[in-house]
Amino acid sequence: MSVNRAIGWDLDGLPRIVRGEGSYLIDATGRRYLDGSGGPAAFSIGHAHPEVNAAITAQLAQVACGYRYLFTSEPLEQLTALVLRHCGADFGHVVYCASGSEAVEGAMKVALQYWNARALPSKCRFIARQRSYHGSTLGALSLSGFDERRAPFARSLLDVSFVSAANAYRPPPGVAGDALVPFLADELDQRIRSLGAGNVAAFVFEPVVGAAGGVVPAPPGYAQAMREVCDRHDVLMIADEVMCGSGRCGTWSAMAHEGVVPDIIAVAKGLAGGYIPLGATIFRRALGATIIEAHGSILTGHTFSGHTAACAAGLAVQRIIERDALLERVRTRGATLQQEIRAALARHAAVGDVRGRGYFIGIELVRDRATRQPFPAGRGLSNAINRHAFDDGLIIFPCAGNAGDGLGDTIIIAPPYNASEAELAELVDKLERAVARALR
Ligand SMILES: Cc1ncc(COP(=O)(O)O)c(C=O)c1O
Repeated sequence: MSVNRAIGWDLDGLPRIVRGEGSYLIDATGRRYLDGSGGPAAFSIGHAHPEVNAAITAQLAQVACGYRYLFTSEPLEQLTALVLRHCGADFGHVVYCASGSEAVEGAMKVALQYWNARALPSKCRFIARQRSYHGSTLGALSLSGFDERRAPFARSLLDVSFVSAANAYRPPPGVAGDALVPFLADELDQRIRSLGAGNVAAFVFEPVVGAAGGVVPAPPGYAQAMREVCDRHDVLMIADEVMCGSGRCGTWSAMAHEGVVPDIIAVAKGLAGGYIPLGATIFRRALGATIIEAHGSILTGHTFSGHTAACAAGLAVQRIIERDALLERVRTRGATLQQEIRAALARHAAVGDVRGRGYFIGIELVRDRATRQPFPAGRGLSNAINRHAFDDGLIIFPCAGNAGDGLGDTIIIAPPYNASEAELAELVDKLERAVARALR
């Protein structure tokens, strides 16, 4: 059997990775690729960081993993303290896992167990949003407003109710400007009422949408308005920060920017920066206390939850981010980077929108700036930009379909938080060249 068949995707023509060096990846022929998107916004402090590798190696030399029901460990305890400190005083629990999908599954299960512990087991339905992605496991996929990824599994997914995306560039028909947030809050309110608040466990959303929308920050006031609706109906709020969290947007939790406290946060990608797979479901003390009082323990997690070497990797990554003040860097330099990208692409009429927060920047390409009409799907514009960038030694993240019906072209830019000035300049330069070539 060919390797392609064995692993389930097409390897033909892909370069063979052999080395990482800060913001660069290097293939077997010696070609260098500037990591302008952290793959899918995962590699928060670049590749082969000597301090992170030393921390992992030192941990492996001691022990790879102490099983979570038999042992605690220093990396586990210190990472947990650090994560909880970043999330704020309301939060008291962290259940680790190895991916974003698992972190979202954990969030769903914590919500369900909480309502069960409160003797309200009928509160078991979830409300999520159109044009969202929450993961590939069946529960997380059920929450995902992403038809292209759901279709083959649709009949086996949970019955999740979907409300509109919070997208100021592509609002629901007839709704724009200041009317958007009240419309969305009213829609959620009505949806909870029609399902019956006694049947709804949680509202799940990405504070800044990633792959399903090409970086879509919610409009100002959105999170606050949705929080009020959730509180009114005793519905939990789950923030999926797998892509936008762990500092990517310039605050450790993306929700901190909104000044709104969710009940449960899912993180993954940037937590250990790709050095070892690591995700986490983080939730409020009050939820944990209720669950533990009723059931004795939190019934989610996996064999390798809190894997010692994975926690050592996460701790090393997070300590570097703190020590080198990288959140501050992402916040301030991110705003400038966004302006630089906007300026570099200004001459291309097809660039309809440049948006985002921190080092999480989306570029949307449209056939007509005034009407925001997307390019035909057959043109494959975002993939073409990606190909030209990759050929030129720049990694970006193309997303198609954000405008619905398979239409829409966006590009995500998400460099390592510690990328140098020269690397950011190279990123902008090569991005502009790739856009120009694809549009030619
Ligand atoms: C917002 C969001 N949630 C969940 C996931 C699933 O994460 P993973 O692919 O690590 O399972 C992703 C992956 O892209 C994501 O962007």
